[in-house]
Amino acid sequence: MRRYPNINRAHIDANHPHRSTDFDDYYFLLLDPIGERQSVFIDGNQLPKRFAELQPNSIFRVGETGFGTGLTFLLGWLSFLTYAPPSARLQWVSTEAFPLSRHDLDQALDALPLPDAFIKVANQLREAWPDPIPTCHRRLFADGRMILDLHLNDAEVVFSQLSGSIDAWCLDGFSPDRNPTLWTNGLFRALAKHSHRTTTLSTFTSARLVRDGLTDAGFSVEKVQGYGGKRDRLNAVFANNPEQHPWAPRNHAGAMNRIAIVGAGLAGAWVAQAFAQRGIAVMLFEKDQPASGASGNLQGITYAKLSIEATPNSLIQMQSLAHLSQWFRHFAPDHWQQSGALLLAQDDQARSHQDKLLAALPDCYLQMQSVSRSDASDLAGLSLNHGGLFLPDAGWLNPKGCVSELLTNPRIEVKPYQRILHAETSKDGTLLTIQSPTDLEEQQVVDLVIWTNALEASQFIDMHLPLKPVRGQITQISSVPALRMPICGDAYVAPATNGMMTCGATYAPNSDDLEPRVDDDFTNLAAANSLLQHPAWTTKDILGHRVSLRTATPDYAPIVGQIADPRDWDSRLDGLKYDASFQPSEALPYLNGQYVLAGLGSRGTLTAPITAELVVSQILGEVLPVSEAVRDALAPDRFFRRQLIRGLN
Ligand SMILES: Cc1cc2nc3c(=O)[nH]c(=O)nc-3n(C[C@H](O)[C@H](O)[C@H](O)COP(=O)(O)OP(=O)(O)OC[C@H]3O[C@@H](n4cnc5c(N)ncnc54)[C@H](O)[C@@H]3O)c2cc1C
Ligand SMILES: C[S@@+](CC[C@H](N)C(=O)[O-])C[C@H]1O[C@@H](n2cnc3c(N)ncnc32)[C@H](O)[C@@H]1O
Repeated sequence: MRRYPNINRAHIDANHPHRSTDFDDYYFLLLDPIGERQSVFIDGNQLPKRFAELQPNSIFRVGETGFGTGLTFLLGWLSFLTYAPPSARLQWVSTEAFPLSRHDLDQALDALPLPDAFIKVANQLREAWPDPIPTCHRRLFADGRMILDLHLNDAEVVFSQLSGSIDAWCLDGFSPDRNPTLWTNGLFRALAKHSHRTTTLSTFTSARLVRDGLTDAGFSVEKVQGYGGKRDRLNAVFANNPEQHPWAPRNHAGAMNRIAIVGAGLAGAWVAQAFAQRGIAVMLFEKDQPASGASGNLQGITYAKLSIEATPNSLIQMQSLAHLSQWFRHFAPDHWQQSGALLLAQDDQARSHQDKLLAALPDCYLQMQSVSRSDASDLAGLSLNHGGLFLPDAGWLNPKGCVSELLTNPRIEVKPYQRILHAETSKDGTLLTIQSPTDLEEQQVVDLVIWTNALEASQFIDMHLPLKPVRGQITQISSVPALRMPICGDAYVAPATNGMMTCGATYAPNSDDLEPRVDDDFTNLAAANSLLQHPAWTTKDILGHRVSLRTATPDYAPIVGQIADPRDWDSRLDGLKYDASFQPSEALPYLNGQYVLAGLGSRGTLTAPITAELVVSQILGEVLPVSEAVRDALAPDRFFRRQLIRGLN
């Protein structure tokens, strides 16, 4: 069974904010922390020179073990801003298995004599500091020029599963004899797996086991003078050819002047926003008005439904829930309310599932708490029929309002009433045939297309995508102002906004009928009342309704990533028909400039932001914010591969 990872908080000496009592060691050289970090990690990897030589629009990726107080990261950030050309970007991928509490981080940073420029960036890090949730916490700073991927998890686990390649490694742990888990041969092999011919590495130690371990893993290691005339330390370069990852798609190598995103729902809006945040302009084609499909409701509940096993689908939901307080904080109050939410257990089966889930979740995970009926009622502000789980980080979102807010970025050119009719790939890019608002057909060549048009995506993608419509009707009802947070069971009810509240939603698989039904309103009303001890609504309270289609996949996980070339895959993966563990010998072919984000199912308000980051990172050659296993489990070609394996003879 795949288990959720667990992490422990750092324990800091009450009399010394830079000393770990867990490891009986200091986070850095106390005499001159900035000088030491600069010499060992920044200069050790020749970062100023390499930053200065970066091509416009390129990305440089640093990997770090042991984030600690983030001092090295802050120095890397300032160095990048000083030396790199303005359109280049830096990605800092770090791990931390014992994160500092916010308070301890403040104490540690406050106790350092930092120059003003440093204090400014340090304050941004403080504001963005994550809760101790074992996942990858992605943050963008400096107008999107700086990406921090802070993985709160063991370094060896994270780097063995990393999806992407690193240009410079900073190996920073407590001393090897006190902190052996950060200096293992397994970790060194993982670093090698994600290195290439010009990847460098630096570390403050020259311990024998580190030197030998790095050498065995394929690094060419050099002992150099330690900082301030002190201990020796190590610099290294990767001396082997990079490991092949035949399954992994590659970043977009061609031009990126004309990027087309097709479909302006939550998926399209978040993808557009991910590009725009990085300073990259996009066009967003929409056959109607933005948010006219599933994303057009005025209220949806943003919460995670986790499995007892740590499946990729659960991991991505856990990661998304952890992001909300940071990523949604700029939304207007009537577009996003982080009110918390209650998942009520309406029968024995649901209760048993919740009990097993709580037992399976790691001790550090406080984002799901068991609550009795009476506690749940107090939290909700209404007498409820059941207890269940309280999710303090969840809330309700106005998808339509959020789409419109996301699209206000000047780098996003929204093209309403422009339906894409046809797409043809050529060497120069993709030729789109567009039905214009005046019904004329126009053509435009683009360098890149990202299909975010829900069910219709499959019409433009040769590799079969098993997307299915699931009709859903929500009902708007008179408000009961007492309700403080969404309550979810067989149905959900969202708190009042602008004099109404939403309940729903019906779930009719394989139906694409968009006509509202009176019976569906009654079903929603009855389901909403069944959550309360004293039914609150009668049919007179029905104010309106809306029908739209969810886009579902057979495994309920979204479809994210570059689109494979089905013809070549068929022949190259013939071996899968006989052996499920078959590995192709060469990199598999993908369609140049063709990507998809669809199949967000019933969780789009939660998962659209991180899946958008995933696809944009893939396009731009960034390290992905998810593990290789999660990338693979969400890849558009998974169904194709499964079909070959199922036909095993
Ligand atoms: C009734 C209902 C209730 C829901 N409740 C919740 C909830 O409480 N919480 C939650 O997290 N999720 C909920 N969801 C799911 C959530 O709404 C979806 O996951 C999400 O909106 C999907 O976004 P999307 O951008 O993929 O699709 P859509 O919003 O459907 O966007 C696709 C867009 O593509 C456009 N398009 C299609 N073809 C073309 C073309 N050829 N050219 C140009 N444009 C095109 C469409 O017009 C549309 O605007 C609910 C869904 C429904 C139906
Ligand atoms: C010397 S400190 C790093 C200092 C840090 N780079 C800074 O600038 O403040 C080492 C860090 O590694 C972390 N650590 C220890 N073991 C780890 C492991 N197995 N995986 C990830 N991080 C680990 C510690 O909690 C500590 O924060």
